[in-house]
Amino acid sequence: MATAVITGGTDGIGRALADTYLGRGHQVLVIGRDREKGQAFVDAAGGRARFLPADLALVGESRRALAWIAETYPRIDVLVLGARFHRSTRAETAEGLESNFALYYLSRFLFSHGLVGPLSRAPHPVVLNFGGAGQTGPVRWDDLQLRRNYPGTGALGHGAKLCDLLGVSFTRIHRDTPIRYVLNHPGVVATSFAGEYDRVAAAQVELLKATGKTAEQAVAQILPYLDDPPARLTAVLEGRRVPTDTGSFDPAEADRLHRITQELLAGLPR
Ligand SMILES: NC(=O)c1ccc[n+]([C@@H]2O[C@H](COP(=O)([O-])OP(=O)(O)OC[C@H]3O[C@@H](n4cnc5c(N)ncnc54)[C@H](OP(=O)(O)O)[C@@H]3O)[C@@H](O)[C@H]2O)c1
Repeated sequence: MATAVITGGTDGIGRALADTYLGRGHQVLVIGRDREKGQAFVDAAGGRARFLPADLALVGESRRALAWIAETYPRIDVLVLGARFHRSTRAETAEGLESNFALYYLSRFLFSHGLVGPLSRAPHPVVLNFGGAGQTGPVRWDDLQLRRNYPGTGALGHGAKLCDLLGVSFTRIHRDTPIRYVLNHPGVVATSFAGEYDRVAAAQVELLKATGKTAEQAVAQILPYLDDPPARLTAVLEGRRVPTDTGSFDPAEADRLHRITQELLAGLPR
């Protein structure tokens, strides 16, 4: 049976994708922190659905989750990286990492590279990462964890830029596998906008919720690219393919970020 693993699958676009793949007969694992939402998904879906509670902002929990997933699912056909949590004010995790950097980028780095084995056993494996599709940037090379002038909502954009570069380095490193990598910027989508917002950002979020497309519309825009990815690396902006041979997807920058990330992870306790 085909398998879909979806971080952030308890809500928003991730949940809509989880429902879509269940409808197609996949077994679906969703990962999030909210046990009620996770259980609601399992209850609504029946035997092919599972929920794994994990705080993916913590490297230790991401690693534990990955070990369990790799043991439980020898083959993964679809990996969706959708967990995010916005903070208007900078915060650090218990491991001392900036929370948005840790969740939006580092957990996606760990999940992408950490599941290459099970992904490679699927006939047409695909990873969907909600990056910036070339629309965000530049990288703050001297301040990846946003210590100075924390940009509020811009922190998500910075994480999305890092995810674009993750897609570039991933497809270079794993070029001998069948895995295809899709970077998607869905535009404004009326979801839960999980996060802790100050007054101004909260008002902006309410506006976005009132004007955004539905999660189902966002899924309809990206699904054709997941079903038949046109290239090893594909970037999609609101259903439109974006070229990846531009400066936004610079392989040298991608290599640099990959090296920095490996060093950072090597310095964390196992
Ligand atoms: N919505 C938009 O307008 C928009 C625009 C551009 C890009 N995107 C991108 O699209 C993707 C999906 O966004 P969305 O709006 O659909 O999401 P959302 O409704 O805000 O839901 C976020 C998901 O992340 C999970 N999550 C949050 N913190 C977590 C943590 N520490 N550990 C594990 N899971 C965690 C939540 O699960 P729990 O509640 O169970 O913890 C939830 O399932 C994101 O990458 C987002 O940046 C969205």
